[in-house]
Amino acid sequence: MKKILVFASGEGSNFEAIVHYFKDKNVQVELLCDKKYAKVLKRAKNLGISSHFVEFENTYEFLKNNKFDLYVLAGYMRILPQEVLNLGTFVNIHPSLLPKFKGKNAIKRAFLSGEKETGVSIHYVIKEVDSGEIIAQQKCKIETFMTLFELEEKIHKMEHKLYPKVIEELL
Ligand code: GAR
Repeated sequence: MKKILVFASGEGSNFEAIVHYFKDKNVQVELLCDKKYAKVLKRAKNLGISSHFVEFENTYEFLKNNKFDLYVLAGYMRILPQEVLNLGTFVNIHPSLLPKFKGKNAIKRAFLSGEKETGVSIHYVIKEVDSGEIIAQQKCKIETFMTLFELEEKIHKMEHKLYPKVIEELL
């Protein structure tokens, strides 16, 4: 049985997609969240998944005592220091075609930039934000008639499909 730890800070829709995907697949999913009132904690509870509220400063200590095969960042809005990254393999998902639009509000910035396409990137985590080696990318057209909300929905659907498959391959 493989074990993965999903890191999330907010909404948790990717976390939920990952939990559903691995439900009958001999992979144990747990959650680490750094925000006490994040919606993702409620999702974990409803899904019957073990969750760990770990303040950012205590991440190293927690991972020293709790080992997983893969660490999966999904909307975890913190920059992990090198000493934490040294403890295992960390991957992240980002809603743009990296190296374009690193950082926050990537979908909105791509939408407003006039780009004809954007997408989703999954990459290994290094200490520079949204910058490690890319594992998988998927493109998405920005149609002229699309609203920002529609583009966001499309990107999130792509994330929910792509991320679990990439995680499975990595395991
Ligand atoms: C996702 O779109 C993810 O790609 C993005 O945060 C969202 C989290 O949504 N991550 C980043 O922007 C990382 N720089 P979720 O909480 O519903 O999974």
